Amino acid sequence: MRKSGGPELAALRPQSRPEPAALLGWYDAHRRTLPWRAASGAQADPYRVWLSEIMLQQTTVTAVQPYYARFLARFPDVNSLASAPAEAVMQAWAGLGYYSRARNLHACARTVVAEHGGRFPATLEGLLALPGVGPYTAAAVGAIAFDLPAAAVDGNVERVISRIYRVEEPLPGAKPRIRALTQALVPARRPGDFAQAMMDLGAMICTPRRPACGVCPWMGPCAARAAGDAESFPRKAPKKAVPSRFGAAFVCVRADGAVLLRTRPPEGLLGGMDEPPGGAWRESDAMPATVELLQEAPFDAPWRLAPGGVRHVFTHFRLELAVFVAIVAPDFAAPAGIRWVRRADLAGSALPNVMRKAVAHGLAFAGGAEPGAA
Ligand code: ADE
Repeated sequence: MRKSGGPELAALRPQSRPEPAALLGWYDAHRRTLPWRAASGAQADPYRVWLSEIMLQQTTVTAVQPYYARFLARFPDVNSLASAPAEAVMQAWAGLGYYSRARNLHACARTVVAEHGGRFPATLEGLLALPGVGPYTAAAVGAIAFDLPAAAVDGNVERVISRIYRVEEPLPGAKPRIRALTQALVPARRPGDFAQAMMDLGAMICTPRRPACGVCPWMGPCAARAAGDAESFPRKAPKKAVPSRFGAAFVCVRADGAVLLRTRPPEGLLGGMDEPPGGAWRESDAMPATVELLQEAPFDAPWRLAPGGVRHVFTHFRLELAVFVAIVAPDFAAPAGIRWVRRADLAGSALPNVMRKAVAHGLAFAGGAEPGAA
């Protein structure tokens, strides 16, 4: 890469216009084969495109693929998803994180069936009105499934565009400008392929570290490539420190191995997901004293602290859970709102990763086998 500086390079100006045709030619030769993608030239199924786009928000292609396959086998079309019970949907999503996506997914399927006769609307306005569908998802589904000339700007696309134009303004402030720059490039022909080509370029060539500029179809117009500083884009505002929260999980194990679980209320973080009973999560610098945590035990049992606890990082905070374990007699009655789940059924419950870790930690301490992996 040529190293040079100079104020003239800071200008928001590519070397030349990035031609959609050059990108589409590269895409035709190098496109990724992905399970939700239609074959070259074929029409994509809006249900599959929408499902994949919801799953791919905040989640990598690699992590999504097995979930996508299982989900589609279980809910092959929008009607089967709409008529499924909420617990089945949450269970199929368990482990993918960001559970409001699953709740909205279900609500969206019901809306498509109830208000659109089971067909996804084919306009941006119609898509935007659906539960859980924001500007990115509407543009991605609109472009990929309906060939609408919409700019689907995700993190990959932000990287590509911020480099081509050397966008100095940091993210997230630069988002509107990057969107406008992307929209100006969307071609009237093959806008769906253009959207997917941008994603593939960001994932395969214009990578965060060590981009493969030498084989990039847009090497010519790229201002950051010319300046030799592609890796420094997109500029990012400094990250805020992530606060910590602390709490306790109470893993009650019956002599036959069953565990007491409850379902969280439908709204809020991890809404509708299963968990062992627990106390409040409090913001603090350190784990509260054991005696204090024990006051939050949901019922009387011979609780013992399992050393070590579990940790999980959410978007806006870190969570550390102390895990208490009690082993109880076979006739121990489940308290109101909590139910016994047999060991064999744990893998099929809607435990999010952090709660799966807490249960596994408790069972390991109790001397039992671990529940099924997420
Ligand atoms: N990331 C977000 N949407 C995607 C898609 N449709 N294909 C590949 N990666 C993506």
